Amino acid sequence: MQFALDDELLALQETARRFAEEEVIPIAADHDQSGEFPRAVIEKAWELGLVSTCVPSELGGVGLSIEASCVATTEVARGCAGIATSVMCNDLGLTPILVGGSEDQQKQWLAPCADEFKLVSFCLSEPGAGSDVAGLQMLAEKDGDDYLLTGTKAWITNGGVADFFTVFATLDRSSRHKGVCAFVVARDTPGIELGKKEDKLGQRASDTRSIHFDGVRVPASQRLGEEGQGFGIAMKTLDRTRPMIGALAVGIASRALEECIAYARERRAFGSAIGEFQAIQFMLADMAKDIEASRLLTMQSACMIDQGMRASKYSSMAKCFATDAAMKATVDAVQIFGGNGYTKEYPVEKLMRDAKLMQIYEGTNQIQRMVIGRELLAG
Ligand code: CAA
Repeated sequence: MQFALDDELLALQETARRFAEEEVIPIAADHDQSGEFPRAVIEKAWELGLVSTCVPSELGGVGLSIEASCVATTEVARGCAGIATSVMCNDLGLTPILVGGSEDQQKQWLAPCADEFKLVSFCLSEPGAGSDVAGLQMLAEKDGDDYLLTGTKAWITNGGVADFFTVFATLDRSSRHKGVCAFVVARDTPGIELGKKEDKLGQRASDTRSIHFDGVRVPASQRLGEEGQGFGIAMKTLDRTRPMIGALAVGIASRALEECIAYARERRAFGSAIGEFQAIQFMLADMAKDIEASRLLTMQSACMIDQGMRASKYSSMAKCFATDAAMKATVDAVQIFGGNGYTKEYPVEKLMRDAKLMQIYEGTNQIQRMVIGRELLAG
């Protein structure tokens, strides 16, 4: 077991940290307020090799390991979780092609993301099927060598700005997970209509919306894997990306801790700095120990995946533990800041709003507990 980052990871961490300090933190509050998508900043992240990190080096990409992506994600999330979500979402959208696509499909869809700045969305959730993936309703009807996709996808990150989507649809709703297929669909394919952008509580810089597919014609060459393999492709994708949500959570919680330490040193009450009081120290100590535990669990799951081990249970543990810890840390941060913490003058209320989404997306934390529980019982 290694606890220190090697030189390459340290350099990546430094790049991502500088990007967060110089490009993300200065604009985070404005984009939180306006909800405007910070395209230029995300493009800058791409130029630095922080977007589409999963594209293998043989295809011209940066080909980061999951561990390395987690290191970078934590730093960007320290700056703004909404921007970090928009950045990491490309890997979520591209991973189905990595785990389920043929060599030709990988060349066609992954390689261009290394050459040009492109945005990608993962279209799995639906208005009536968020947690229950096997219950998705979007139909893929066969029409000669093509499929016609009809249905609505919901809460799609980068939905309004993506150049292409990985989309999950069923050949037959009654066959549950066995009927699901995965497709790659370009944004400009006729029949795609964007829904209204969601007005969210937190992570407001990320573009989240519904997408309607009305008989969208997709050739069989854009189907990933065989018919019926879509559910497995979605699950394998989430196994690989949930550690990154753990990493995002570590970034948010670390920022909350930093802000609280600075405030506890300065803010005075009863004749001394509030950091002198155990009531505050205990909250800081809980934050610090939970951040370290979250980081370790996140890195363990990431390294297991990088080593080719099956890591569903650990990915779910990392996602669930780290995001619950970030929620607690940010609620406590607002408490430490008191009345100030509840205003937009200080950064901690945003951290709290941003943290909440992480307990919901990429599978609610109740779903993570289901995955962990089932794996425990399966032995
Ligand atoms: N890897 C490979 N195969 C897997 C797997 C995995 N991790 N998990 C399950 N499977 C296989 C099972 O072995 C089973 O295979 P067989 O057909 O051979 O039996 C099959 O898939 C069905 O599995 P289950 O019986 O476990 O399926 P289920 O219907 O009970 O559901 C679930 C499982 C874990 C609840 C799943 O539906 C799930 O993960 N739900 C949450 C969805 C989610 O995370 N959505 C997030 C959307 S993306 C987002 O939020 C991101 C964003 O925009 C930022």
